Amino acid sequence: MTKEVRHYLQVFDLDKETLISLIKRAIELKELRKKGLEERPGVGKVLGMLFEKPSTRTRISFEAAMYQLGGSVSFMASRDLQLQRGEPLKDTARVLSRYLDCLVVRTFGQGIVEELARWSDIPVINGLTDSHHPCQILSDIMTVIEKKGEDLSKLKITWIGDGNNMAQSWIQAASRIGFPLYLACPEGYFPDKDIIEEARKEADFPIEIVTDPKETVKDADVINTDVWASMGQEEKAQERKKVFMPYQVNKELIALSKPDAIILHCLPAHRNEEITEDVLEGPQSVAWDQAENKMHIHKAILEWAMKLRD
Ligand code: CP
Ligand code: NVA
Repeated sequence: MTKEVRHYLQVFDLDKETLISLIKRAIELKELRKKGLEERPGVGKVLGMLFEKPSTRTRISFEAAMYQLGGSVSFMASRDLQLQRGEPLKDTARVLSRYLDCLVVRTFGQGIVEELARWSDIPVINGLTDSHHPCQILSDIMTVIEKKGEDLSKLKITWIGDGNNMAQSWIQAASRIGFPLYLACPEGYFPDKDIIEEARKEADFPIEIVTDPKETVKDADVINTDVWASMGQEEKAQERKKVFMPYQVNKELIALSKPDAIILHCLPAHRNEEITEDVLEGPQSVAWDQAENKMHIHKAILEWAMKLRD
């Protein structure tokens, strides 16, 4: 196989230039949509969506993005496929490649998206795994740029809470795009050490991880948080609540940040756990713009992956 297939399984799959161009294109697409000037370069294309975990935003925003590009969508809950009865991923990938033009996958292990991509002649896009959420991170950075400007290296961008898939995508983005990142996670809940080490190797800015959320949030421009128990960790939710309580993003904590700091949450939020109702609904929260931006970034990712503008 000689043709280049544009998979996007983790931030580190793409170079800085491509990541920035996706964000810039999403900002442009958002503007074009507002003006009613959208183009439909995806006519005749079919996007497959293979999901093994629930989703509101990623599913519907990818679907809307593909329809707005003029294409169509086939949604597959993995339990309805022969995968459920043991058909190998490599067979599924080769067959779906004959029908579809692109495949978005939401699943558990990163190895699953890697195996699908290995056998796929069409682009495979990671719509969240236990390890990475590489599309979400681009809509989050797009939101930061919209609110705080393009020079991310001058900002104090922070992550408070679990060292989960989102935290790991932030770490890769900080390293690849080039900005400092400050994380506060409880002992035992740090991001994967190999991901941290690999990111630090090429980073021009610090990636600092401590256990004290107050130290991290002090003078922050951007505060990110996420659920304390991710999908697949439900049985640990009670135990995690106790550990994570000091990491709640509430009024007292955000008072330590800059007065114009913005608060991001990729959603869904568990109110009064990782974020209080007043902060999520307050003037510094940008969670709703962040959710909207998923659709614009997904459109940019689909255009790029299917080479609709090349
Ligand atoms: N932020 C996000 O990925 O949301 P969903 O789980 O609803 O897709
Ligand atoms: N960390 C969360 C993100 C949800 C969008 C999870 O994996 O459930």
